[in-house]
Amino acid sequence: MRLVVGIGLRTDTSYRELRDLLDSALAGLEPRDVTQVVTVDGREAEPGLQRLVASLGASLFTATALELSQQPVPTPSDHVDQLAGTASVAEAAVILSGAELLAPKQRSARATVAVGRLPEEQVPAAPGYAVGDRDVVHRVLAERRDVRRGFLDRPIADDLLTRVLESAHRAPSVGLSQPWDFVLIRDLATRRKVHDLATSQRDAFAASLPAGRRSAFDGLKIEAILDTPLNIAVTCDAGRGGRHVLGRHADPRTTWFSVAIAIQNLWLAARAEGLGVGWVSFFEPGEVAAVLGLPGHVELVGYLCVGHVEEFAGTPELVRSGWAARRPLSWAVHQEAWGSRGLPGEQPAAVIAKDAARAGSAVRAVAGEQSVYLAVVDGADGAEYLRRADGLVVRVGAEKPTADFGVLWRPARTVDEAVELGVEVARDLAPQGVSEIVVEVVEPSDITEGLARGIFLGGLACGVSVKGSDGVGEVSHSSA
Ligand SMILES: Cc1cc2nc3c(=O)[nH]c(=O)nc-3n(C[C@H](O)[C@H](O)[C@H](O)COP(=O)(O)O)c2cc1C
Repeated sequence: MRLVVGIGLRTDTSYRELRDLLDSALAGLEPRDVTQVVTVDGREAEPGLQRLVASLGASLFTATALELSQQPVPTPSDHVDQLAGTASVAEAAVILSGAELLAPKQRSARATVAVGRLPEEQVPAAPGYAVGDRDVVHRVLAERRDVRRGFLDRPIADDLLTRVLESAHRAPSVGLSQPWDFVLIRDLATRRKVHDLATSQRDAFAASLPAGRRSAFDGLKIEAILDTPLNIAVTCDAGRGGRHVLGRHADPRTTWFSVAIAIQNLWLAARAEGLGVGWVSFFEPGEVAAVLGLPGHVELVGYLCVGHVEEFAGTPELVRSGWAARRPLSWAVHQEAWGSRGLPGEQPAAVIAKDAARAGSAVRAVAGEQSVYLAVVDGADGAEYLRRADGLVVRVGAEKPTADFGVLWRPARTVDEAVELGVEVARDLAPQGVSEIVVEVVEPSDITEGLARGIFLGGLACGVSVKGSDGVGEVSHSSA
């Protein structure tokens, strides 16, 4: 069931108030797939609303007070009419979106919420599948979660586990090379050794974080190695199939892609069986390989913690905790060529700066306190900036720098491209909890300054404050 939620709210209504009100309005409606949230024009920038929309993974739409006032609503309100210029926001928004209102609106101190059901799609499913079958596939995909909490003390039946492994083993693979193997680990002593490895990597990661981000990280659970009855190490034998594996010769990475797909198959099948799966990557893979006694030619790809769970959360834990936000789909879809972004059927936005504001609201909700000190360089390595825990270097030069997650390589060829890449940098940091960017243009040029301008525009669109390193103005240059 695809739901639309209409929301009327006052200024500064908190996320918590909206969430509680929505949860009570949704009670008894299963499954709760809220795809759209609609409110009146002008309210879309409310932080509480944006956070709610992001936590639902829904799209936010607005309607004018005039459009809303023309809808025949069951419970009009004179009071709302005075405040918003329409007798109802919540119910009218649901009706306007073409949905069937499921119940009268519910109120809290500062908000009203109404819920409606969107008409089922009339598009038939593929031959051999009922519409319901198709919807279940999409549901499993949407409701798969990385699970790290709430595991039950219940063993996993052998036949169930075999079904899940069968599904993993049916994954596509380059040249049908099936380069994966599954090492099933139940032994507590082995799991303790692996747990120790994860703990020391956790500590190392924590130590690398700026202070604010670190305290947020301290509250996160990143593995369930000892909380689950079963761990599965999924490995890759890159040489499997010999010399002439079809499709691998030009791009050997396809071997590892194949293993990752097998893991996703396992993850989805497990979800359908009520098994939670948590992927742990806080390892130096060779150290796990040593604990498990893997032969030298076999590499660890994924380490999974698996067990029965009572329930699966509706949204990723990193979203619920405010650590990160989902990137809107429209940012990820390019039509015909890179840079022409937009969903199918939408008019693509040829210039990212124009498009940024449209989707920016979806990520503004991240409760990030993180400040990033961003140095824009051309050919310099920016090593001194990487010594800062909050340092990030953006390098625009054509020469690819040595791989380092502290260095974003954005080889801009024109000023326009530099602006676009700058917008992208800012809006891709926003979903990772960055709320402030301090920019220093270390090597001033048309290109580096264009990139800095883009960062400013992207930040503006996503609610990230961007300022120059001298603390005033938009962006400053170093004296270099
Ligand atoms: C390759 C990979 C490695 C991951 N490593 C970890 C990890 O070490 N610890 C953790 O808590 N989650 C890990 N995750 C889970 C992601 O955090 C999770 O998939 C993401 O937040 C989205 O949530 P969802 O899977 O519930 O949709 C990993 C996921 C992938 C695909």
